[in-house]
Amino acid sequence: MACGKLYFLILVILGLSLKVYGKLSPNFYSSTCPNALSIVEKGVKAAIKNEARVGASILRLHFHDCFVNGCDGSILLDDTANFRSEKTAAPNNNSARGFEAVDHIKAKLEKACPGVVSCADILAIIARDAVVIYGGPTWKVKLGRRDSRTANRSAANAFIPQPSFNLSNLTQSFANVGLSFKDMVVLSGGHTVGLARCTTFRSHIHNNTNINSGFAKYLQRKCPTSGNDNVLLPLDYQTKYTFDDKYYKNLVAKKGLLHSDQELYNGNKADSLVQDYAMDQCKFFKAFAKSMIRMGNIKPLTGSNGEIRLNCRKPN
Ligand code: HEM
Ligand SMILES: *[C@@H]1O[C@H](CO)[C@@H](O)[C@H](O)[C@H]1NC(C)=O
Ligand SMILES: *[C@@H]1O[C@H](CO)[C@@H](O)[C@H](O)[C@H]1NC(C)=O
Ligand SMILES: *[C@@H]1O[C@H](CO)[C@@H](O)[C@H](O)[C@H]1NC(C)=O
Ligand SMILES: *[C@@H]1O[C@H](CO)[C@@H](O)[C@H](O)[C@H]1NC(C)=O
Ligand SMILES: *[C@@H]1O[C@H](CO)[C@@H](O)[C@H](O)[C@H]1NC(C)=O
Repeated sequence: MACGKLYFLILVILGLSLKVYGKLSPNFYSSTCPNALSIVEKGVKAAIKNEARVGASILRLHFHDCFVNGCDGSILLDDTANFRSEKTAAPNNNSARGFEAVDHIKAKLEKACPGVVSCADILAIIARDAVVIYGGPTWKVKLGRRDSRTANRSAANAFIPQPSFNLSNLTQSFANVGLSFKDMVVLSGGHTVGLARCTTFRSHIHNNTNINSGFAKYLQRKCPTSGNDNVLLPLDYQTKYTFDDKYYKNLVAKKGLLHSDQELYNGNKADSLVQDYAMDQCKFFKAFAKSMIRMGNIKPLTGSNGEIRLNCRKPN
């Protein structure tokens, strides 16, 4: 990528200057688990080699973790008889995936450095590694998050944005976790990879006018007004497993898959940012790396708060 080097330098400088304020640090495991990053990277590579989609799924897990009481691994906890997990909240149930890949990587880390690397940090690292493997930008992941002992299903229902949201709802949803309008437009670019179910875009492709009509007809055949709820289609119809700026190009062409996607280019104040990123992939990459770091900083548990889970699916 032409935008690689200078950009990396800028991020390093940015990382150094932010370190003064933040509690997380890229070097958090350098003495306690020096191979942590390479173990995770290897695991993500193997997982994506095994199933191309899983990198998209784990990127989304980090997002759904961070938006619900901060990046604390809460999304990874399983339901039990007396515990209502976030996994089965409406936005995640039959939708969030990639948990086995996380388990596999956690097991490798436990073998190398027992009880050291948190599940919340694993999500942050694998999200970055997946983006890189798909051809996107890199950044230094800040580390030192600890894991929650609980999850909150109603918070997951309340705080994870929905595909039916319009621009003001989306803006509010990001503001609720301290992220800006620009973060919202930039992080939505995560939809340059991965798939969505018919049930999440049916009303957009059948009932909306802010969609290219040929594109809508093509989608309607695959996702009719009823049935086929679980049919999967790419969020970026051009390159579903390449991290690039085609998501924004699609929006400009009115070929966004979700209603919430196309809201970012619908004659309102997000349009100019979308146009910028559609024309300049480097600009998108730089902004994405910055916003991912900001998302990863949402309310981490640090110090003696929370715990380092031994199994990401249950509290110790
Ligand atoms: C802006 C608000 C957002 C909304 C309303 C939204 C909504 C959705 C929906 C409805 C799906 C399809 C789920 C399914 O059919 O099972 C999806 C998938 C996905 N989302 Fe988002 N999302 C948003 C933001 C983000 C962000 C910030 C990221 C990451 C930076 C992200 C990453 C993904 C990925 C990678 C997938 C595909 C997952 C896979 O293939 O398993 N999304 N999103
Ligand atoms: C999750 O989905 C399953 C299978 O569709 C369903 O049986 C279950 O009731 C759902 N859970 C919640 C909490 O909605
Ligand atoms: C769970 O989240 C809901 C919605 O944000 C909140 O009202 C409730 O107090 C939370 N429950 C716990 C136990 O934190
Ligand atoms: C967004 O939707 C809400 C209703 O859910 C509506 O009150 C509001 O006016 C809409 N905003 C825009 C910008 O369309
Ligand atoms: C969407 O935003 C409107 C205000 O613009 C608000 O009245 C409505 O409750 C929001 N809907 C959701 C689901 O957040
Ligand atoms: C389209 O909108 C109409 C009227 O609001 C509604 O009855 C219908 O169920 C919608 N169709 C889809 C596929 O969402």
